[in-house]
Amino acid sequence: MTDWMTVAEVGGSLAAIGGAAYARHAHPAAYWSAVGLPASVVRLLASYSSTMDACGLTVEPPRWRAVAVKATTRREIRPVPPRRGLIRLTATGLRMRLRLAPGQEPADIAASAERLRHAWGVHAVYVRDVKPGVVELRLVGFDVLRDVRMPRRARGGLLRVPVALREDATAFVRDYRALPHELVLGATLSGKSMYLRNLIAGLATQPVVLVGIDCKRGVELSPFADRFSALAVDQQQAADLLPVLVAEMEDRYDLIKARQGIAPSTPDELITSDIWGLPDEDRPPPIVLFIDEVAELFLVASRKDEDRRDEMVTQLIRLAQLGRAAGIHLEVCGQRFGAELGKGATMLRAQLTGRVCHRVNDEASAKMALGDIAPEAAWAACSIPSERPGLAVAGDTSGGWSRIRTPNLSLTHAAAATCRAAADFAPEVPALSPFRPHAPTGAPVATSGPMASPQPVTE
Ligand SMILES: Nc1ncnc2c1ncn2[C@@H]1O[C@H](COP(=O)(O)OP(=O)(O)O)[C@@H](O)[C@H]1O
Ligand SMILES: [Mg+2]
Repeated sequence: MTDWMTVAEVGGSLAAIGGAAYARHAHPAAYWSAVGLPASVVRLLASYSSTMDACGLTVEPPRWRAVAVKATTRREIRPVPPRRGLIRLTATGLRMRLRLAPGQEPADIAASAERLRHAWGVHAVYVRDVKPGVVELRLVGFDVLRDVRMPRRARGGLLRVPVALREDATAFVRDYRALPHELVLGATLSGKSMYLRNLIAGLATQPVVLVGIDCKRGVELSPFADRFSALAVDQQQAADLLPVLVAEMEDRYDLIKARQGIAPSTPDELITSDIWGLPDEDRPPPIVLFIDEVAELFLVASRKDEDRRDEMVTQLIRLAQLGRAAGIHLEVCGQRFGAELGKGATMLRAQLTGRVCHRVNDEASAKMALGDIAPEAAWAACSIPSERPGLAVAGDTSGGWSRIRTPNLSLTHAAAATCRAAADFAPEVPALSPFRPHAPTGAPVATSGPMASPQPVTE
């Protein structure tokens, strides 16, 4: 009888452990909410002071406090940890603010992030500067980049698309007003087109003109043809389209200039140097030009093509240099983007402020994208595993960088559901109408493998 009891007990415990391990792997978010979160909160509350002490993050208390403690309680005076704010629970982890003690800087806390993560049993700990003297600790309970779900609260706006998830579970927002042009690099099958697809789906419902150049005969961008105002699928079409865009940009500059010259008495706030200062009814719609596989634009087979290529490169450089004020933005995608592409390549690259680097085959490619942002960012890009397509390193304006991953958005969902439904959102730009693509009829291109559309979760 006792033997049977023992077997039943052991079996029951093993089943519970197995079930927990399965739940942790298969449903990390649910496991975190039910098991991980309470356990981590208890650990954090119970061990906050001792952990901070062990990490060297405590300081001597102020003298008045030491005197007061000694006078009233006669207790030993112990170093104090940074003051902790309320713990806020989220669907992916928890957050709390710390007030830095005098003499501490955010880098001190960040240097101990790895130790804190082990002490409190969480997947990762990130430190964010909130304001002078205050940092926010973000504890992430599980690997949020394994199965990307965008936070529901990640709201975009005009020309702001929450396109991917950062490893600290915040949304990575592609903001065209802040970073007018961007370079997206990565080896083949690293997830570049998925990044573009997410961006296109995000912009589709906004009053933004989408223009594409896809020299892979349009295989990547044609499924979105319903929503595109212009699409070039080979070098010749691109060579025809680019001068039209440059002319459109010049027209917009004339418009801004006309506005500036209304009268010498025009109040200062009505003088503008970009389209955003124009009144709503006069403002031309912003244009985003997507270029997939940019190297195809640069490659030439014969001497005859060389002039055409040089012209295109010059036009692209002009668009990158002057486009922002005219509301024209570039999103350039390629496998490599170095001097070997030819004249003008590095000059164009220097104009593309935003940088996203997916998995690359060699360090030189990573340096092309991120070398001028931070050397560690380039190393991080080199260590992206091939079994995680879509994972990338994004550099930000401040010289900081973060790991991001796009949600797995199926082509059917992006093309059919979003772009077809949003076809009417495309603003009219008469100059581009000769380039309007014929939308492919029938079912959208089938996708390989099972794909789920991204589902927002509450944060
Ligand atoms: N974020 C992601 N999550 C899951 N799978 C992805 C993700 N991004 C890309 N993939 C998969 O990786 C493969 C290659 O992606 P793709 O965007 O076509 O790469 P590239 O354009 O760099 O060659 C596709 O089959 C796609 O389904
Ligand atoms: Mg591609």
